[in-house]
Amino acid sequence: MKLIDALQDEHGLIEQVLGSFRAYVDGRVDGSADSDDGGRFAAFFTEFAGHFHHDREERVLFDALVRNAALPGDRGPLRAVAHDHTQMGEWLCEMTPLLEQRSHSEDDRVRLKALAIRYSHALWRHIDMENSVLFPEGADRLRGCGIRELPDRPMSEAEAAAREAGAALLVRYPPVEDAALTRGDGCFMCRAHGETCDGLEAEWWTELEWEEFFKGDAGD
Ligand SMILES: [Fe+2]
Ligand SMILES: [Fe+2]
Repeated sequence: MKLIDALQDEHGLIEQVLGSFRAYVDGRVDGSADSDDGGRFAAFFTEFAGHFHHDREERVLFDALVRNAALPGDRGPLRAVAHDHTQMGEWLCEMTPLLEQRSHSEDDRVRLKALAIRYSHALWRHIDMENSVLFPEGADRLRGCGIRELPDRPMSEAEAAAREAGAALLVRYPPVEDAALTRGDGCFMCRAHGETCDGLEAEWWTELEWEEFFKGDAGD
């Protein structure tokens, strides 16, 4: 499915730019990074990750999963993902003025670092959950109800400029990883698991799927 392939490719760029962003914030903390680039990172996450990427996930993919595959939008994985988008958007808004600020006090530096860690951890884990659960399971369910492709839209000028700037920032600030964050696949790695979502099987599986599952188990 082209839209899901495109969203997954975009994850590749977003997760790299997150690593670059963390390198940049370390540079702002030690005074070696260019303050003008703070606004460019904020624009990448606002325009490209938010307005372009998250928008199509919600308005095209989720909409099709609710309308065509009859999956619940008000609980389970779809609610968890939408809640993540909203919360990460709020966290980005909180961080943006600090990123755009030309100089920082010691308190600003501590706060910027903490906000960058919070935002990057959430977005990395969000990407892992979508790649490992939402996209493959969602595509399966759409195929199951006869949907082979979903509509897509081109980037706006601002979104395309933010994407280009993100790619340039990657070169300027080589991405770093964060050893403090455990990443991995599956529902158990999702921030919502056990909080607002009981996992794919509990939230999405139909009685028929459970029956098939137990039948397969009995045959082993
Ligand atoms: Fe998402
Ligand atoms: Fe995504």
